[in-house]
Amino acid sequence: MNDLAQLIAAAESDFAAAPTPAELENAKARFLGKAGRVTELLKALGALPLEEKKTRGAEINQAKLRIEGALNARRDALAEAELNKQLQAEALDVTLPGRQRGGGSLHPVSRTIERIEAIFASMGFDVAEGPEIETDWMSFTALNNPENHPARSMQDTFYVDMKDEQGRWLNLRPHTSPMQVRYARIHAARNAGVKPMPEVRVIAPGRVFRVDSDATHSPMFHQIEGLWLGENVSFKDLKVVFAALVREFFETDDFDVRFRPSFFPFTEPSAEIDIRFGSGPLAGKWLEVAGSGQVHPNVVRNFGLDPEAQIGFAFGIGADRFAMLRYGIDDLRLMFDGDLRFLSQFA
Ligand code: PHE
Repeated sequence: MNDLAQLIAAAESDFAAAPTPAELENAKARFLGKAGRVTELLKALGALPLEEKKTRGAEINQAKLRIEGALNARRDALAEAELNKQLQAEALDVTLPGRQRGGGSLHPVSRTIERIEAIFASMGFDVAEGPEIETDWMSFTALNNPENHPARSMQDTFYVDMKDEQGRWLNLRPHTSPMQVRYARIHAARNAGVKPMPEVRVIAPGRVFRVDSDATHSPMFHQIEGLWLGENVSFKDLKVVFAALVREFFETDDFDVRFRPSFFPFTEPSAEIDIRFGSGPLAGKWLEVAGSGQVHPNVVRNFGLDPEAQIGFAFGIGADRFAMLRYGIDDLRLMFDGDLRFLSQFA
């Protein structure tokens, strides 16, 4: 084997041994680079006599072509190997089972609130939401429930050991009634000077909090406040609205509504609202579903409205109660345990 054949063999074996494109380029430099072995041979030609230069030169060029051929072949082989590796890494097994998409759904209480919102919206009620951390003034004082009055303990309130910027104590609202005040005050300010004052017709759903926990009480539950104020809004209207709600919500005509005298500082007179179905699994039992009453003049005053001109009613619906009655749930705590076996029944 002459020196050129050896050189070709050396290049071929070096190229074959290069495992990556980068190492292949290093190997190439050793043979074809500026200081590579082929280049050295070509440089050495200058020292030879003319005839020898011609034949030797031609031989070296032949060898160079062979080496370049080997280099390109190896380059192609490495590129193909790389491509195959990539394809394999990205290979899809189309026979594998697909990933399941978790089917989300609304909580039964959310569904209930949405249904009730739609029913009231159809009767011209606005829907408003407000803060769950309230001031003492909004939760009680503005609702005709003065500081240190025993009626405050009707609700076992969670107090927050903190005051707002105006120095008012904060609490977790024990009912949605502060939303009567927030909404009506904005309404009064917005319509100041407008005659006649447009009616207030709003419901305010949301979470409320009390220190209370058993099968029918949870420290967090949901109410839907309602307020309808106008020049001549009466208990008769409340009964009509409430009966419409029950009819639409429970999809039945077979029920009675009863007002049972009660006490709330912010309404006078006040009543609990009970309903009784004539058929179905709950037939015959009076079920308490809301508190209500004619809005107290002091409260109307705190709205920034004139109690001589504005009269009407307010109510607070137990939204969880409505959900339990509709779906036949007998333990309130099930609703807030977050157990998917329970919740997925309402999907
Ligand atoms: N806020 C009362 C409660 O939580 C319910 C109520 C609302 C009563 C509006 C009268 C008027 O028990």
